[in-house]
Amino acid sequence: MALKVPASCVIGFPVKHSRSPKLHGYWLDKYRIDGAYRVEEVQPATVDAFISNLAGHGYVGANVTMPHKDAAFRLSQPDEKARAIGAANTLWLDDGVLRSTNTDGDGYVGSLDLAKPAWRDTVDDAVILGAGGASRSIVYALLGCGVTNVHVVNRTAAKAIAMREMFGNGVKPAAWDDVPDLLKRAKLMVNTTSLGMHGEPPLEIDLAPLADDAIVSDIVYVPLQTPLLAAAAARGLTTSDGLEMLLHQAVRGFELWFGLRPEVTREQYDVMAADLVDG
Ligand code: ATR
Repeated sequence: MALKVPASCVIGFPVKHSRSPKLHGYWLDKYRIDGAYRVEEVQPATVDAFISNLAGHGYVGANVTMPHKDAAFRLSQPDEKARAIGAANTLWLDDGVLRSTNTDGDGYVGSLDLAKPAWRDTVDDAVILGAGGASRSIVYALLGCGVTNVHVVNRTAAKAIAMREMFGNGVKPAAWDDVPDLLKRAKLMVNTTSLGMHGEPPLEIDLAPLADDAIVSDIVYVPLQTPLLAAAAARGLTTSDGLEMLLHQAVRGFELWFGLRPEVTREQYDVMAADLVDG
C-alpha cells in the first residue's frame, strides 16, 4: 500500500487566483519532496467545520487567506505572534493539536533584509500607510526589530489609534496631511493599503522629502511594480515589493508541513514574477 504523502493547502474564498500553489510547488519540486499543496475554496458557512477537521481532509496544515484568518485564529492554539496580531495565516497539526502562527510580519522583514541587509542601522522612523490586517503584522514586526517610531497613517484614524493600544507608544497614529513632514525623518515607507493595486486608484505620494538612503516598500504584487515603486526606483531609492514578502512569508509554513526550511532565491522570484506578468 502506498504511503500517504504530506499535503497542505491554501484556504480562502475566493482563492482560485492564489499564487501559493505555484510557490510551494516550486519548493516541493526543487527539494524532491513527495508532498502536495492544493487550493481549497471554502465558503464562510462551512469554514469552521473544514478547519476543525483538517486531518480528515487529508492535510497536515494549511495557509489561510481572506476572509478566513480570524476563523483560523479562533479555532486553533495561536502562538505569540498570532495572538499579538489577532489573526493567523498558517496552521499545522502538532501531535493532533491544531496550532497557528502569523508569518506576514516576518515575511515582510525577510523582504527588507534582502533589499537592504543593514536597514536596522538606519531606520529609526518608519511610515506605514494603512492600518488593516497586513499593516498590523508589519507594524508588530518592525517594533520587534527595534524601530523606535512607527507612524501609522490611515484613512480611518480609529484603526491607527487601536494599533497604539495593542502595541504601545512606539505606534504613532498620524494623518495623511502629516506625511510630507514625516517623510523628512523616515528611512522607511511602506504601503499596505490597496491603493495602487490593479483596478484601484493610484497612491499619490510625493517622495521628494525622503532621504536618499530611504527604503520604499509596497506589499501590493499585482502589478509587481506599482507606480509608487516605479517612482521610488526612478529616484534611486531602495525598494521591496509584495512578491518578495509573499515568498518570505511562505517559508515557515513549508518548514512546518514538509520538514525542511526552504530558501528564497532570485530564480524562484523570476519564475513567480513571469507568472504574474502572464496572468
Ligand atoms: P489587508 O488585510 O490587505 O491589510 P484590509 O484589512 O482590508 O486589507 O486593509 C486595507 C487598508 O487599505 C486599510 O488601511 C484601508 O483604510 P481604512 O481602514 O480607512 O478602510 C486602506 N484603504 C483601502 N482603500 C483605500 C482608499 N481608497 N483610500 C485610503 N485608504 C484605503
